[in-house]
Amino acid sequence: MKYQILTFGCQMNVSDSIWLEQALNAQGHVVAEQEDEAEFFIVNTCSVREKPEQKVYSLLGRLRDQYERNPAVFVCVGGCVAQQVGTGFLERFPFVRLVFGPDGLVMVPSALQRLLDHDKLKLSLLDFSEHYPQRDNYLPDTLPPQAYVNIMQGCNNFCAYCIVPYTRGRQKSRAAQDIVQECQELIARGVKEITLLGQNVNSYGQDNHAEDVTFAQLLELIDALPGLKRLRFTTSHPKDMSSDVINSFKSLHNLCPSLHLPLQSGSDNILKAMGRKYNQKQYLNLIDMLREACPDITMTTDLMVGFPGETDGDFQDTLHVMNRVGFDSSFSFKYSDRPGVRSAQMEPKISEAVKTERLQILQKLQEDWTLKKLQSRIGRKDEILIEGLSKKQAPEAVFWKGRDSGGRVVNILFNTSEDQTGRIVEVIFTRAKKHSLEGEALL
Ligand code: SAH
Ligand code: SF4
Ligand code: F3S
Repeated sequence: MKYQILTFGCQMNVSDSIWLEQALNAQGHVVAEQEDEAEFFIVNTCSVREKPEQKVYSLLGRLRDQYERNPAVFVCVGGCVAQQVGTGFLERFPFVRLVFGPDGLVMVPSALQRLLDHDKLKLSLLDFSEHYPQRDNYLPDTLPPQAYVNIMQGCNNFCAYCIVPYTRGRQKSRAAQDIVQECQELIARGVKEITLLGQNVNSYGQDNHAEDVTFAQLLELIDALPGLKRLRFTTSHPKDMSSDVINSFKSLHNLCPSLHLPLQSGSDNILKAMGRKYNQKQYLNLIDMLREACPDITMTTDLMVGFPGETDGDFQDTLHVMNRVGFDSSFSFKYSDRPGVRSAQMEPKISEAVKTERLQILQKLQEDWTLKKLQSRIGRKDEILIEGLSKKQAPEAVFWKGRDSGGRVVNILFNTSEDQTGRIVEVIFTRAKKHSLEGEALL
């Protein structure tokens, strides 16, 4: 049958959707090019803020049209909103026939088969499993050069604002041997760069499901795999960033010089209320240690404005840390209440107008830093992993798009009509744009 998967949220959802697509294709289903050709849809949802949750409801409104056109069309709702809302989706929308949470994903291919066999059936897969949910792989023979590998599921941190521990459940580490094996299978199919994924990768192994491998040891194991050119990981929690992991940036050959280290706020009061378990000084110490181990490290972060009780002074602390660190880029959000989390009960709430104003100031400051950081690359050389043709093209010139070792997007002038995807090319940076670099291939 023809289907489409529509994905919201973080890289874990993106990676879950990629696995599901491979599994469904292996069952003989085919991705529909156009929405109106699809016989079923899978919506992989995100619940981390109010906005992505709202998007799910407007998307379901749109998919209702497909169902009204053809009542055989149905929708499966998965991911974090599905875990949160549960069977409510089945009751509210006649065309929703399956809801599944992140741990239920692995059972979706067999559940789908049952839905196709019994056209009145509706199913839910909302239980959390006790262990990391094992998945069989259905990898095609060749793959794009970049891939994600899950190393854990869930989170135990319960930051005051965050719904993830409720939607993805407790932290469950995946066996190191299985992770290494999946990496080997990917490399054998042409993957050059692997990003290890988890909500808090630094606490890998520190749960009931672990063996004796720490995150730093896991990095070492994967870094050594023949054929792998680049290794990355996300997301790190500052409170669990060990000196072993920091030293990996110095000692490991393939580990890329880039780190996403969510700060959230620069104010000690707010960090305390958030339950982040580090303060401004400890965060800045980490940055100093990281830069000592790896002077050229690209630093990115997540920031939030308008947490309950955030004063102007607290917000100034965030700007101060931004200036002290000089992040290469950041994701920044207005705080929003999520159902059942601790901060939903915290007062005083910050008005929408103040949140908007703070976010604008913060994003303007980030833009200045991003440009400054990009400009500092001009004239320098780096290796670029080419991901495909660039959107930018010009007469008599072919541009390719890739990423440098720090993860920045680079458009490269490289006059060849031969497919360069997956190649690693040495480049000299020639121009900085707002969010990307341009460079020329050095042959
Ligand atoms: N595990 C990661 C982040 C997961 S959620 C970590 O620990 O950093 C991604 C980002 O969404 C968070 O870093 C935070 O900045 C933001 N976020 C989470 N809950 C939020 C909320 N209730 N309102 C606004 N932003 C939120
Ligand atoms: Fe959410 Fe905190 Fe866990 Fe990140 S570490 S997923 S912000 S609870
Ligand atoms: Fe969203 Fe769930 Fe990821 S809430 S950010 S999709 S873990």
